[in-house]
Amino acid sequence: KNMPTGFAKDFLWGGATAANQIEGAWNEDGKGLTTAEVVKKAATHHDLSMNTVSQESIAEAIADKTDEMYPKRRGIDFYHHYQEDIKLFAEMGFKAFRISIAWARIFPKGDEKEPNAAGLEFYDKVFSECHKYGIEPVVTISHYEMPLNLTLKQNGWASRQTIDNFTHYTETLFQHYKGVVKYWMTFNEINAITGGFTGTGAVDNELNLEQKAQLRFQALHHQFVASALAVQQCHAIDPNAKIGCMLARAQNYPKTPNPKDVRAAQLQDQLNLFYTDVQVRGEYPEYMNRYFQENGVALQMQADDEQIIKNGTVDYLAFSYYMSSITSTDSKPEKFADSFMAGEKNPYLETSDWGWQIDPIGLRISLNEMWDRYRVPLFVVENGLGAEDKLTDDYQVHDSYRIDYLRQHIQQMKEAVKDGVQLMGYLTWGPIDLISASTSEMSKRYGFIYVDQDDAGQGTLKRYKKDSFDWYKKVIASNGEEL
Ligand code: BG6
Repeated sequence: KNMPTGFAKDFLWGGATAANQIEGAWNEDGKGLTTAEVVKKAATHHDLSMNTVSQESIAEAIADKTDEMYPKRRGIDFYHHYQEDIKLFAEMGFKAFRISIAWARIFPKGDEKEPNAAGLEFYDKVFSECHKYGIEPVVTISHYEMPLNLTLKQNGWASRQTIDNFTHYTETLFQHYKGVVKYWMTFNEINAITGGFTGTGAVDNELNLEQKAQLRFQALHHQFVASALAVQQCHAIDPNAKIGCMLARAQNYPKTPNPKDVRAAQLQDQLNLFYTDVQVRGEYPEYMNRYFQENGVALQMQADDEQIIKNGTVDYLAFSYYMSSITSTDSKPEKFADSFMAGEKNPYLETSDWGWQIDPIGLRISLNEMWDRYRVPLFVVENGLGAEDKLTDDYQVHDSYRIDYLRQHIQQMKEAVKDGVQLMGYLTWGPIDLISASTSEMSKRYGFIYVDQDDAGQGTLKRYKKDSFDWYKKVIASNGEEL
């Protein structure tokens, strides 16, 4: 066989977003309140408010009917701008656009029998707008949010009951969007669940570390079962659709060739790939038995859970890639950022404005590692640079730093394709500026399109093309040859 020379003809170029970071319209057309909409914005770039939620902070948020402190309630008002935005994506030549569906638009409280027709209709319109331009929707079913009612009623994914609520939701989606959506994903960055509220929808701030681990891994088990059931539903209802899992890939290197560091890094890598081991291979890997035992975690499983997981393996592995880190056995390791994935500092790498360690070669390494391990198609569904952009007086944004970042990652991705990795596509994170997941800031911008809105929610919401807009258009038109 010959070595591939570049990206496949049907390579899915495009961009990725999430409902709670773009839609706004948080209380329109019957939508219920979501877990993302009770998380306050961070005070600074490095204050990660994302998972600091308590019963009191939720009560305070419910009483507050404004979006002032809760930017995920306003997003960038995609709900009313979707036609304009998708048109701009089409102008760049997008082949795919990733969005998530807000569960609470379809089932406002999460436990109703009948769906909210207006919610289904909104996504009907979004998908048909995409198809008008030949853009394939790539849909995340759960992206860092759920109906808040399920938190209040049963502490989110801590409860096994949530599996039934979720699979009722997924069945509704597969039936309704059959033949319309070809690419699905169950849980965004499923590994973020061990970080707390954003993934679990469960309030656990008063628990000690061991109790937190117990709750979060149990919640994760419920998500594994729910995801596997959704995969089976999807295959039964729409055999032409493909459904994947989604991991936040954290590429890890040993700090030194000392075997102790190498082993420590190997464990870190296992703890990251554990999730895809379950969802792609269909069973819990042995090393987790030891980890659970040593960390006081005892999972409650029902008799057929293992079989469900085995029968619900995914068609492809999607992942986000932003940074790498190193691991050592040092007693006081030097950390590189306040990011939710922060690891140890690598002296060979530069960092973004938010302290994320930039490592394009790490993407090639990750792609090779995951292809070797799993042999299922891979899909980069997030990658990009969050930076502070400046809109000039004549409405331009000169974001050459963003172009550099993306160029280097695409180059390395191309190397991985030449290495033989099977890659479905590349979606940049936030092709249009949006609300940050970790800090809820607007000023952390990823887009090819600038949105006139500041951290306080002030601005015209007008959209402006940045320099990177024309660059990405050229990249897509040349199928990744002109970088
Ligand atoms: C991923 C999430 O973790 O990274 C996205 O799936 C998120 O929702 C993206 O926006 C970038 O993170 P942040 O915190 O810069 O928005």
